[in-house]
Amino acid sequence: MWLPRISSTAVTALLLAQTFLLLFLISRPGPSPPACSEERVHVLVLSSWRSGSSFVGQLFSQHPDVFYLMEPAWHVWTTLWRGSATALHMAVRDLVRSVFLCDMDVFDAYMPQNRNLSAFFKWEVSRALCSPPACSAFPRGAISKENACRTLCTRQPFSLAQEACRSYSHVVLKEVRFFNLQVLYPLLSDPALNLRIVHLVRDPRAVLRSREAAAKALARDNGIVLGTNGTWVEADPGLRVVREVCRSHVRIAEAATLKPPPFLRGRYRLVRFEDLAREPLAEIRALYAFTGLSLTPQLEAWIYNITHGSGPGARREAFKTSSRNALNVSQAWRHTLPFTKIRRVQELCTGALQLLGYRPVYSEDEQHDLTLDLVLPRGLNSFSWASSTASHPRH
Ligand SMILES: *[C@@H]1O[C@H](CO)[C@@H](O)[C@H](O)[C@H]1NC(C)=O
Ligand SMILES: *[C@@H]1O[C@H](CO)[C@@H](O)[C@H](O)[C@H]1NC(C)=O
Ligand SMILES: *[C@@H]1O[C@H](CO)[C@@H](O)[C@H](O)[C@H]1NC(C)=O
Ligand SMILES: *[C@@H]1O[C@H](CO)[C@@H](O)[C@H](O)[C@H]1NC(C)=O
Repeated sequence: MWLPRISSTAVTALLLAQTFLLLFLISRPGPSPPACSEERVHVLVLSSWRSGSSFVGQLFSQHPDVFYLMEPAWHVWTTLWRGSATALHMAVRDLVRSVFLCDMDVFDAYMPQNRNLSAFFKWEVSRALCSPPACSAFPRGAISKENACRTLCTRQPFSLAQEACRSYSHVVLKEVRFFNLQVLYPLLSDPALNLRIVHLVRDPRAVLRSREAAAKALARDNGIVLGTNGTWVEADPGLRVVREVCRSHVRIAEAATLKPPPFLRGRYRLVRFEDLAREPLAEIRALYAFTGLSLTPQLEAWIYNITHGSGPGARREAFKTSSRNALNVSQAWRHTLPFTKIRRVQELCTGALQLLGYRPVYSEDEQHDLTLDLVLPRGLNSFSWASSTASHPRH
């Protein structure tokens, strides 16, 4: 075979030319990006059971620009119920990524082949699944109601979820099945996603009280949290699940605030349920600003209604709080939990109380003295990553 002899200058010139061509190709705006990734914002409400995340979910779900699903990874856990939370992390992450990209085929692995819109866990709390193009129970931009939606939309074709999802600028998912932040790093640096994380926490003592009131409903999830190979755990006298939950909040908040990786900048915001219950509008405005949404007058009126216990949206069971009793709700554990148990949670969750700004009580007197405020102002410097992107009103 004949090989031409080429001078080294020619080789250099050729290499340079190729490099420039390559750089040109890379830097050129690509052929129109898929509709899904352009400008769309993906919001993960990252929380735990009984922490007010359904309420926060509703705040997003009712926004006219938002496609919302509540706990899509419920389907992963109920299908792969022998797994442990850690073993299922990757499947959960993969599902969440697909849903953010409006790819609902991912549910083929977790749902029956013949299914309607109502196959989604708690689908009726998603306003987008009750409005066009998914269903016409409520016009887009109206506040939806679960009961009416359940009646009118349950038999809509499953495929409409995908179509609906693609028609919104924001996809918001609430999930309680992540126990560290590292598992989400690939999503944070994924060029197809524009992810914001709202990390919602609540006083572990209030969480414990609320968990005890709902022990049966949490039994399967508890088993997965504790890695029991499918055994349900209803009674948890050692408070192992609460300890696990506290640890995960500390892990997540620390990963996001102490030496956070650069791709987390401006993408993480910690929210305490108690702050939200005390000053809903200010907190919600800040949350919306963080995720690029604005508070419409209609939403503001609705939020006022649901947090002031008046109007049709005020159903307790849907929102678990109203500002008239918000303080009472967030303090209910002080009336009902025995002091020995409080002391135990405080021991198991010392780090979480400290990091998140909840004051321990050291006696029964302190427990019952409601003039003693246990929600401490959050350290100004502790969560600078969040406060750099949105102002956080203080009180
Ligand atoms: C889905 O809805 C159709 C009617 O639109 C109904 O015939 C069918 O039984 C429903 N399927 C399921 C699984 O509920
Ligand atoms: C989990 O339970 C199944 C069925 O009881 C059993 O076959 C399997 O060996 C168990 N796995 C572990 C890791 O214990
Ligand atoms: C708020 O409540 C009032 C009084 O019940 C009601 O008339 C109004 O429609 C409600 N507004 C919204 C946006 O829910
Ligand atoms: C708060 O709860 C306590 C005990 O459950 C009750 O005595 C009190 O009246 C409540 N306060 C309000 C304002 O609802």
